[in-house]
Amino acid sequence: MVCHGGFNLDETTRRSWYDPEAILEAIGLREGMTFVDVGCAHGFFTFLAAKIVGETGRVYGVDVDPAAIEKLMQKAKEEGLSNITAKAASAEETVFCKECADFVFFSMSLHDFHDPAKVLVNARAMIKPEGKLVDLDWKKQDKPVGPPSSILFSEEKVTELFEAAGFTVESIAIGKYHYIITGKPLT
Ligand SMILES: C[S@@+](CC[C@H](N)C(=O)[O-])C[C@H]1O[C@@H](n2cnc3c(N)ncnc32)[C@H](O)[C@@H]1O
Repeated sequence: MVCHGGFNLDETTRRSWYDPEAILEAIGLREGMTFVDVGCAHGFFTFLAAKIVGETGRVYGVDVDPAAIEKLMQKAKEEGLSNITAKAASAEETVFCKECADFVFFSMSLHDFHDPAKVLVNARAMIKPEGKLVDLDWKKQDKPVGPPSSILFSEEKVTELFEAAGFTVESIAIGKYHYIITGKPLT
């Protein structure tokens, strides 16, 4: 996959930075839950989540790149995963369902959106009162890998965006190049 900023990201490289299954376990993803992957591309986290939530759960994915969504849905068909729904659309215009999601998840995508505040309004609409928003992204610092820091969001910026959208914020440490910020809806 070629990411924003023009660098290549393969699975082996990604797994050298963080353990994706451990991340999904740590945030509390379980069988039967609903997971929304925003800016899902070809579905790296979509597929991991689909395997965890199982047949009684559901995974939604959205990405503006129609080719990525086509590839994702082809793979879902080949793997017999009927619990995935994905669509090619802008995250700014997408609400899959109201108060349906246990997790709305952004992996290295929030900084790419044209209007992240609008995307977070949609996330707020989708999330259950007891659900959680999760942003996994690159640290905004000089490093030998990843997109240029000029296009990235600092943890402070994500905290501001989450709070403005009506979430209380916590962070989880996951390695030297990335951070995770989580948000719980304010009631
Ligand atoms: C760096 S990639 C991350 C992909 C994926 N989350 C992962 O971890 O492999 C960012 C993705 O966000 C998508 N994207 C950018 N702007 C978008 C928007 N406004 N709405 C939906 N997706 C968008 C891009 O097409 C790209 O696939």
